[in-house]
Amino acid sequence: QPMRELFGLKTMEEQLKEQFNLKEVVVVSGDTDEFSWVKKEIGRATVSCINDLLQANNIVAVTGGSTLAAVAEMMNADSKELMPLFVPARGGLGEDVGNQANTICAKMAERAKGNYRLLHMPDQLSKEAYSTMMEEPYVKEVLNLIRSSSIVVHGIGEAFTMAKRRKTSESNLEKLKEGNAVGEAFGYYFDEEGEVVHRVRTIGLQLEELNGIPYILSVAGGSSKAKAIRSFLKEGHSTILITDEGAAKELIKGI
Ligand code: BG6
Repeated sequence: QPMRELFGLKTMEEQLKEQFNLKEVVVVSGDTDEFSWVKKEIGRATVSCINDLLQANNIVAVTGGSTLAAVAEMMNADSKELMPLFVPARGGLGEDVGNQANTICAKMAERAKGNYRLLHMPDQLSKEAYSTMMEEPYVKEVLNLIRSSSIVVHGIGEAFTMAKRRKTSESNLEKLKEGNAVGEAFGYYFDEEGEVVHRVRTIGLQLEELNGIPYILSVAGGSSKAKAIRSFLKEGHSTILITDEGAAKELIKGI
């Protein structure tokens, strides 16, 4: 029985790799929507993936979210003492403190026996405030570090779940509805084809900057996130997907 299950997961991984043109796919058993322990397993799988990729002095950028919080929870120090530096991918995306990129970043660094730099930003930045912040030497320095990341580890959310969590304004909600947004990652909202329909203005990694980063680990599970995951995979920047059986089945079915 366990062997059959293993075989099923392997098959799904191979299928998804081909379907979305990814370097690697890891599918853990179960569905996050049904059992919360599945998220922990996603966390564990992600940590082992990070540890496989890490080389000395690598910079690792991370986003917020409960999935990334689960990754941080599982983080451990690799015996090789690689001294990774953790940075938040983007600042100020509207999360409770435990799920903020800064918190996750600091926790990961502590557990991986590495270092971290933080980016404290207000959630809503006006154009003027944004430009002013961008001129701050500290911000510039951290931004350069973020852009030199070797690994980015990020979550994916269902568009309207994230919009609500961020207390998005009525007018922006309208924009998301009109644009048929289904998924969200890095503060960008995507439709089913992976086209950007809206973005949150904040400092940090911009979508097009993902081009220069060797490993983009997309970490999300739960059958209810399948559409959202597909929208980001279609967007085309992901290189490695870490998900669960619940989402994987829907992604393969094409729902
Ligand atoms: C947020 C990120 O912190 O977490 C989003 O800014 C991401 O980009 C979201 O979609 C995912 O959250 P969760 O709790 O579903 O892992």
